[in-house]
Amino acid sequence: MESAASPSVRSASRSSIGPRRLQVTPISPRSGSPAQNAPQGTPRQERGTFGGTCGASSHTGIGTSQFEAVGRNFHKPSAIPCYHPLMTESITVTSARTEDLDADTRAAIIRLCVAAHNEEDFRHLFSYIPYGGLHFLVYRGTELVSHAVVTTRWLQPEAQPVLKTAYVDAVATLPAYQEQGYGSALMHRLASDIGEYAIACLETERTAFYEKLGWEVWRGALAGRGERGMIPTPEQTGIMVLRLPQTPALDLNRGLTIECQTERIW
Ligand SMILES: CC(C)(COP(=O)(O)OP(=O)(O)OC[C@H]1O[C@@H](n2cnc3c(N)ncnc32)[C@H](O)[C@@H]1OP(=O)(O)O)[C@@H](O)C(=O)NCCC(=O)NCCS
Repeated sequence: MESAASPSVRSASRSSIGPRRLQVTPISPRSGSPAQNAPQGTPRQERGTFGGTCGASSHTGIGTSQFEAVGRNFHKPSAIPCYHPLMTESITVTSARTEDLDADTRAAIIRLCVAAHNEEDFRHLFSYIPYGGLHFLVYRGTELVSHAVVTTRWLQPEAQPVLKTAYVDAVATLPAYQEQGYGSALMHRLASDIGEYAIACLETERTAFYEKLGWEVWRGALAGRGERGMIPTPEQTGIMVLRLPQTPALDLNRGLTIECQTERIW
């Protein structure tokens, strides 16, 4: 996509998943880089082709799950902690494609992300993701309280094929509702709805939050696959992956590359 997933990037060391802009200057592959042998570039573009189990265009549509917050479990993988939102308000967790979001929902997502990240660049979120994203939305009553978006990218673990990757950006909960379980509910739903992908990935400074949800920090060398070669990103931290049913055996200590986008690598 015109860097479809680019809502997230400004610098390789930026903390949370939020708008970041990174000038990508390809350099020659470094001798000995673990990622050196990986294929370069993006195998194919898949804008707007999310064909999985999510298709709701509103928070009351297909793809919506609704439940009373107190006394019921969210869907969750076994052995992973799952917190319940503390309020008695009805909670709805739903998904929608970017192109199906109406103006009010887009505005609510932007307000939410700006408030949670204290980051004005989120006002441009939908210019980074004009279409093709899969948004996950948590409503408390009619109020949007939590959001994340998945776009398709292409990870390649060292000595493995390129993997169709659910790349997660713009994870946010309204400040007033943080630490009440909404973000966990959001990420559980997201994980259960991306089975068409071979792996999921995100970049964060809040690794502990995601580790509780089954995500793992990639420990090996990281690099971008540019048109003119590998771009090592040794300063990059907080790259996490989530194993999905189709994920091959992984060695988190080996190299990991991702296709470079116009304004970011990770
Ligand atoms: C990160 C963020 C999305 C998490 O959303 P959230 O709704 O607060 O998430 P949860 O409430 O499910 O979990 C947050 C913490 O509260 C804890 N928690 C939630 N419900 C709980 C409960 N009922 N009892 C005890 N602890 C609870 C979780 O364990 C978690 O702890 P941790 O941070 O130590 O891992 C949110 O804090 C946010 O928007 N932060 C600002 C932007 C940001 O940093 N985004 C993510 C960057 S990748």
